[in-house]
Amino acid sequence: MKNTLFILACFISVLASCGSPESSSTSTTATTESTPAATSSSTEKHPGERLIATSDCIGCHNKVTKVIGPTYEEIAAKYANDDATIEKLAAKIIEGGKGVWGEVPMTPHATLSKDDAKEMVRYILSLKK
Ligand code: HEC
Repeated sequence: MKNTLFILACFISVLASCGSPESSSTSTTATTESTPAATSSSTEKHPGERLIATSDCIGCHNKVTKVIGPTYEEIAAKYANDDATIEKLAAKIIEGGKGVWGEVPMTPHATLSKDDAKEMVRYILSLKK
């Protein structure tokens, strides 16, 4: 008899705990899509910066910290931002060389197209303050 009561008690407790927890509450997920305020024009990268990111320049150059070569900001400060300079520095990147900033040479980048190299220089010179 005690056994039956026990089983009954268990049964009831199981039933009680199984009571469906009214989960069908109408959850009003108000989809107030926040309007993207910032038009990303200011964060767009210069095409030359993207080219530099895909090349090996980063191993020797940094925008503001001197690594092996001069920083891009130093280069921008040294040169005028004109076509002749862009032409000259693009050729230097492709051919490599030393002597302007010290005795450490820049390796040649023979596979780089002149147009890509110029775009990189345009980015570097755009950092002129
Ligand atoms: C192996 C290291 C190394 C790599 C890789 C490298 N550079 Fe240089 N870069 C140098 C050094 C060293 C100088 C300074 C050369 C000198 O004194 O004439 C320099 C100089 C420069 C200059 C200035 C040249 C001048 O005559 O004033 C530019 C512009 C430049 N690098 C751009 C680049 C770009 C763009 C890349 C990637 C395509 C690149 N460098 C990759 C080491 C490197």
